[in-house]
Amino acid sequence: MVVKGENLTQPDIPATWGAMEALYDSGKAKAIGVSNFSANKLRDLLEVARITPAVNQVELHPVWQQPQLHEFCDSKGIHLSGYSPLGSQAGENVRKKVLDNPFVKWVAQEVGKSAAQVALRWGLQMGHSVLPKSISEARLKENLDVINWSIPQELLPRFSLIEQACSNSFICFMLHISYGAYRTMEELWDGEI
Ligand code: A2P
Repeated sequence: MVVKGENLTQPDIPATWGAMEALYDSGKAKAIGVSNFSANKLRDLLEVARITPAVNQVELHPVWQQPQLHEFCDSKGIHLSGYSPLGSQAGENVRKKVLDNPFVKWVAQEVGKSAAQVALRWGLQMGHSVLPKSISEARLKENLDVINWSIPQELLPRFSLIEQACSNSFICFMLHISYGAYRTMEELWDGEI
């Protein structure tokens, strides 16, 4: 649901959420959630929501870890799910920053896996779900092989030392910034970047 104003499409989040709650009540949706919500937007939503979102899906990987959002979602029982868990290629090539990161590469060598697998496994060990996409069968298999091994626990805190770079995906850019209510990344993320 949207309302028009100042030539921009302003999302009416409470009304949209109300419609999603109705879908949940009717049994047509087993769970309802949101995407690209900052902690601030979640806080606003929780003030009017009857049903807490099951999930918030955002771009999430070792180079954009979003620790405050992670903590807020944890405190509210909202699962945080990562799209582009290998880093988005939109704008600045963040995927390169993830896969070429010296620490990620070093961990990969230590555990005998690829840098991509380490990035995915880091997400799982942080309690996120990860949604890698690939058109290559070999990479699909590689991305599935992140279950029966782990990154040593003592190495996990060192991931937080990785320099962060917020990219955000092309889709997010098109939907929110070009045509939507948020004209800058800071507006979209309420300054939480
Ligand atoms: P490819 O399809 O050629 O494997 P996003 O989730 O942001 O859309 O990104 C998915 C991108 O990540 C695709 O371009 C995909 O390329 C690439 N990718 C998926 N798995 C791997 C992997 N294991 N190693 C390197 N790149 C990968």
